[in-house]
Amino acid sequence: MQPRKFAKVATPLPGKKGADVVKKTAQYVSPSISRFYPLVVESAHGSIVKDVDGNQFIDMAAGIAVLSTGSTHPKVVEAIRRQSEKFIHYSYTDFYYANIVELTERLLPLISGSFPKMAYYGNSGAEAIEAAMKLARNYTKRPIFLAHSGSFHGRTMGALTLTASKPMQRRGSLPLVPDAVHFPFPYCYRCPWKQTFPECDYYCVDYFKEQYLEKFVPVDEVAAYFFEPIQGEGGYVVPPPDYFHKMEFLRDEGVLFVSDEIQTGVGRTGEFLGIENFGVTPDIVTIAKGIASGLPLGAMIARADVMKSWKPGQHASTFGANPVAVEAALATLEIIRSERLLENAKRQGGKAMKRLLEWKEKYEIVGDVRGLGLFIGVEIVKDKRSKARGEDEAKRIIDYCFKHGALVITAGRNTLRIIPPLTVSEEEFTEGLDILEEGVAQVNSATVRG
Ligand SMILES: Cc1ncc(COP(=O)(O)O)c(C=O)c1O
Repeated sequence: MQPRKFAKVATPLPGKKGADVVKKTAQYVSPSISRFYPLVVESAHGSIVKDVDGNQFIDMAAGIAVLSTGSTHPKVVEAIRRQSEKFIHYSYTDFYYANIVELTERLLPLISGSFPKMAYYGNSGAEAIEAAMKLARNYTKRPIFLAHSGSFHGRTMGALTLTASKPMQRRGSLPLVPDAVHFPFPYCYRCPWKQTFPECDYYCVDYFKEQYLEKFVPVDEVAAYFFEPIQGEGGYVVPPPDYFHKMEFLRDEGVLFVSDEIQTGVGRTGEFLGIENFGVTPDIVTIAKGIASGLPLGAMIARADVMKSWKPGQHASTFGANPVAVEAALATLEIIRSERLLENAKRQGGKAMKRLLEWKEKYEIVGDVRGLGLFIGVEIVKDKRSKARGEDEAKRIIDYCFKHGALVITAGRNTLRIIPPLTVSEEEFTEGLDILEEGVAQVNSATVRG
């Protein structure tokens, strides 16, 4: 094992103080929340997280893709402090304040499409999705939503209607909002049609037309097509390059394109929005997670003509566009620009990708490596030939990382996701990947030995 500069774990995990928090959480807090491992955070700065027992970890999870500028970036903290001293809340549902205008003026030019746009603000990803669902129906006067199996769009009743990555998410909550139709996502490593790209010539699109539109989905009753440009919770699945472009025939039928950028947005893929990598301009975009570096803020940005179909009172949320969160978002956008974080995501992501692709050659359990920028998935399998999902193996790898001072989580059933803050330094990231590689190598040897 190499000497560590950042990762320092000196107690069993959780340590004594951490174990107490874990125990009391189980006693008092809803059991609906699932956790990867017992990390009990005491403080976090940049890409380094400390727990209550004094252990130190390299952050490769960014608080689940939220800490775009790292934890407690001084400019974000200063913006929060400044605004907190002025006013913390004065509901934008009924009154006005200026920083919402400032944020919107900065944000809109970053969103693809040269047409006029408008923004609606809520507090979370699911709220942004709910708003997009309501707006799409209101504008089109159509009932149906299209979404992908494997997708994740949130857990409130509307958003959950679109979410389809794990049965557990819906268990006990049915029925949901009628009428959502799910169809397969182009997951080339596990092609649902057992085809190979590019020889398949996008059979997935033909299949959708033949088996859905020609059989049971009246396209003129579809309000919107919701998609993640790269599936997140579904397993970090990157579609083939022209997929969304080939789906654009739906737009001729009046279907709105809604790009859920809640995980892929705010620079994570090296572009401001994930969909920019695929050359398609959506009508509606949803953003949350990384936009305010950890403060709760969600945005639903739409073509102005679509947004203007709403009349006063049709949608709002008391806490939406909280002025402190808005200042944090303004600071986040300024940091992304001044610290050239899109370039950092591309450069560091590119370097990491090169190294990870070598693991694919080196380790039997590394089935696939995919991603863009600092949005990277490593799919773990039992062996390359069968591609049997290495769920237990992936779990053992993230446990190894945790015990050795790196926070790595999974996506889907068996994919390791690598999403450090966009500010991560090369030295921190390299050490994090070193720990991850040790974990992969250890689990690989145990699996290969059988
Ligand atoms: C793509 C995507 N959409 C929506 C959501 C829901 O966001 P929130 O948890 O803020 O409601 C998530 C959260 O993980 C997400 O990844």
